Amino acid sequence: MVACRLSHTQSVCLLASQLTSLFFIAPVLMAPTQSSMCTPLKTLNESLSQRRRYMKHNFPINYTINVHNKEIFRLSNISRLRSRIEGLNELVLQRLWFQVYQGVLKKIIQVLPQRHPSRPYTAELERRFRDAEGVFVQSHPAEVFQEDLPNKIQDIWDSLTEEPDRVPESSWRFASPKSLLDNLCHTMYCLFSECFASADVQENYCEVSHWRKGRKKDLVPES
Ligand SMILES: *[C@@H]1O[C@H](CO)[C@@H](O)[C@H](O)[C@H]1NC(C)=O
Ligand SMILES: *[C@@H]1O[C@H](CO)[C@@H](O)[C@H](O)[C@H]1NC(C)=O
Ligand SMILES: *[C@@H]1O[C@H](CO)[C@@H](O)[C@H](O)[C@H]1NC(C)=O
Repeated sequence: MVACRLSHTQSVCLLASQLTSLFFIAPVLMAPTQSSMCTPLKTLNESLSQRRRYMKHNFPINYTINVHNKEIFRLSNISRLRSRIEGLNELVLQRLWFQVYQGVLKKIIQVLPQRHPSRPYTAELERRFRDAEGVFVQSHPAEVFQEDLPNKIQDIWDSLTEEPDRVPESSWRFASPKSLLDNLCHTMYCLFSECFASADVQENYCEVSHWRKGRKKDLVPES
């Protein structure tokens, strides 16, 4: 391949060939994925529609839990990653979404005592989340999950999977369970928009402003 002979390093050459093969396989493999994902994701969305009651009303006012700052994964993060990583594959973002939110759900469950009124709800939410993840994994060939991630994504991944006692103090954030689930929900609509788009309304679930109707000060993008 000419591009390979002209390039300075082997890694560029390798990258080029990986990208080429990705483009060839992507359309074929992606098509059935979305539709099979929709059933479990819609089931998950049904649970999520109860989140105000179970993640807010059942908790003390202003209750927060400690999470890793990378577990704050919002629409603004998605648009930033898309703009900073050229040719970023949607699948990579979807994998990251599952990685982030399985950790978030685990952390919420950990703070709930056995008999807390939100415990059965959260356990079911996590079960439904895992079902969706199972379908996600099954609907792609195993090799897809062994591909190297872009560096920026790999860095996020590494901090998410770091042993909790090795995470520096400065990386922890306080967040309310409700806000974490809001983030989960909004990013799910964005990353799996095929499952949530309605035919008559032109929605763009990935736009931050979609969720902040009329609240002007909030429209300023976060840095
Ligand atoms: C999620 O589920 C709720 C409750 O069933 C529904 O009202 C809402 O429209 C769903 N969201 C999307 C984006 O489909
Ligand atoms: C909850 O937080 C809000 C905003 O930070 C504050 O105004 C309010 O006093 C807090 N309420 C309680 C009960 O701590
Ligand atoms: C999302 O952006 C915030 C800053 O706005 C940052 O603290 C957080 O770590 C980012 N999350 C991810 C998953 O990169």
